This record gives sequence, C-alpha cells and structure tokens, in this order.
Amino acid sequence: MPYHLEVVVAAGLESLAREEIQRLGRGARLAPGQTPGVLTVHYDGPLQRLFTLRLATSVYLVKHFPIPRPRALLGDQHLRTAVGLAETALNLHPRGSFQTLYLSAAGAESSVLARLKDELSGSLGLQRGQDDGDLLLRLRRGTGGQGWDLLVRLTPRPLATRAWRVCNREGALNGPVAHAMALLTRPAPDDLYLNLGCGSGTLLIERLQLGRAQRAIGCDINSEALACTRTNLEAAGLSDRCEITPWDARKLPLPDGSVDVITADLPFGHLVGSHNENLDLYPALLQEAARVARPHARCALLSHEVRLMERLLATMTTWRLIENLRVDLGGLYPRIFLLRRTNQRV
Ligand SMILES: C[S@@+](CC[C@H](N)C(=O)[O-])C[C@H]1O[C@@H](n2cnc3c(N)ncnc32)[C@H](O)[C@@H]1O
Repeated sequence: MPYHLEVVVAAGLESLAREEIQRLGRGARLAPGQTPGVLTVHYDGPLQRLFTLRLATSVYLVKHFPIPRPRALLGDQHLRTAVGLAETALNLHPRGSFQTLYLSAAGAESSVLARLKDELSGSLGLQRGQDDGDLLLRLRRGTGGQGWDLLVRLTPRPLATRAWRVCNREGALNGPVAHAMALLTRPAPDDLYLNLGCGSGTLLIERLQLGRAQRAIGCDINSEALACTRTNLEAAGLSDRCEITPWDARKLPLPDGSVDVITADLPFGHLVGSHNENLDLYPALLQEAARVARPHARCALLSHEVRLMERLLATMTTWRLIENLRVDLGGLYPRIFLLRRTNQRV
C-alpha cells in the first residue's frame, strides 16, 4: 500500500514543487488537488528520500479514520493505528530526535483530545509540548466532512528549516523560496552569479547547493549581514566557493555586460528599509543591475513593493518581465519578478 502524503509548500510554489516531486521517480504519484500550498502524493519509495525535497515546507503522513467523532480514536484499535503512524515518523530518525508531541486540532483543549494527547505521548514516551512539538500531529475532518484524518509530520523540524542557518537575521528569506528563485534562474556551471543584498546568505547558499558557478559573489552594505553570510556559508561548507563583498548594489565595481545571473531579496520596507528609501534604491539598483548584466542574463528579484516594481519595469527597456510569481510568505504576499536582460543599451 503506498503511503498517503501531504507535501506543504508556500502557496505559489506548487508547480515547481510538483516537478521536484516528480523527480523522485515513479514511486511518487501526484493526486489532483486544489488546496493552495498542499500537494497530495501517493508514495511507495523510502520515506527518507522525501527529506531531500528543497521546496517543501513540511511533509505529512496522512491516515483516514472512518469514525464519526474524535472520541473513537481512543478505542484500542484506532489508538494502536495512530501510535503506529507516529512511530513511522519516529523510526526515520536517530533515537532522541523527538522529545515533545503537539496535537493541532479544532477544540484541542477538549477533554477527549486532552486524553488522546496523553495516550499518544504516554505510548510514544514523549512530553506534551505547549505550543509546538517535535512530533507534530494534526487532526481534521476528512474530505467532504466524512470521518477524520490524522496527519503526522515526518521530521522533528519543518523541512524549510535549514541546518546551515546558524546565523539568523530579521528579514532572512525562507529557504524553499530562495531555492525556487535559484531554480528559476536556471543555474549553470559557467555562470557569473551575483546576489545583491545577501543578508544572511540564503540565496547564495541555495544557489550553490544546486551546483558550482564559475564565480559567485554576494554583496551587502551592512557589515553585520556580511558576517552573518560568512557564518552560514561556513556552516554549509561553501565558503571557498564564493566571494563576499561590501559593495553597494547601486554602484558595483564590475564591468558592463559581465554577469550571467542576478538575484536579490530586496528590502520590502517592513523589516528592512522603508518605502521612501525604496523609491530611490529600486530604480538605482535595477539600472546598475542592467549595466552589469550581459544580454539575456537571468534575474530573479523578490519584493513586496509590487506597484513600484511594476511601474519601474514598465519604463525600462533593459529588462523584460518573464514571470511575476506571487508567493505566500506567512501571510505576506511578495512577488518573484523573473527578468531577462534585453540587448538594449543602458
Ligand atoms: C531583505 S534583506 C535580504 C535578506 C537575505 N535574503 C537573507 O535571507 O537574509 C535585504 C538586504 O539588502 C541590503 N541592502 C540594502 N541596500 C543595499 C545596497 N544599496 N547595496 C547592497 N545591499 C543593500 C540590506 O543590508 C539587507 O541585508
């Protein structure tokens, strides 16, 4: 029997995530689904392979219980099935990886669900977490209101949590979104790759994990950001594969037409920068990026300044808009602007 899985992704990344799941091979079959940010997969390969998914936020194992109410889960047979489901996740990791259990459900504080949490945590030898848990369970109504589904996250942390992120910064980009931006720029080994405003290094690291670049450069005007990038690159084992520089993205010491790929997670003006600063920064940065980009260079820029970006791009002949992808970053909906350098002069 194949496993029934739900792969959770940032809404907007579904089609890229579908391709990534298809690359797992014939053992992974995608079911049609309409819920944004959720891909249903029937899978009969080794579950650990799913941990290689870079676009997924989390992967859940799903079990349907044809029961009228959650109380029935306390019955011996259903409880054993639920414990077995949880053990499938636990057994994928070294002993001790999971310490706490958390059950997310409507009415999670009801006496029935409190008992269910006690039974499960007792059987599995885990503490009950307060707001979160290593072993994350979700209980919800089944499709069409029929029965109930129990979901178990396969990993003690979301897959979106990157092991290399030892230095965090406010405004750091979500790993899967950075991975998507790297894929959209079609990485190639002979690229001169430039990441403007590298912050904590997310875009650089996600790009370099996809393969070598002839030269990779990250720049930022903030010295703490540069130190953070270096720390994370070190943790990712990628320090020797890129240059970290204190360049201002509006005035780059690079020759005209020399760069193949440019990426940036631009200050949105929420956590980093301000809208007024962006009114000056964005046109200057787009102009300078166009100067250093070679004709047909690829560029992926993430920004929540949608109107400003659209207005600027409408007036520029140096950049052609290829795609404008709206992504859900935890309730904020920035766009990935995928651009191609034209052969017009700056
Ligand atoms: C939204 S943050 C980038 C976050 C990064 N992607 C990460 O994951 O940590 C934007 C970055 O742009 C940098 N920045 C702002 N203006 C800049 C400029 N003119 N030149 C270079 N970097 C700049 C800021 O210092 C900040 O680190």
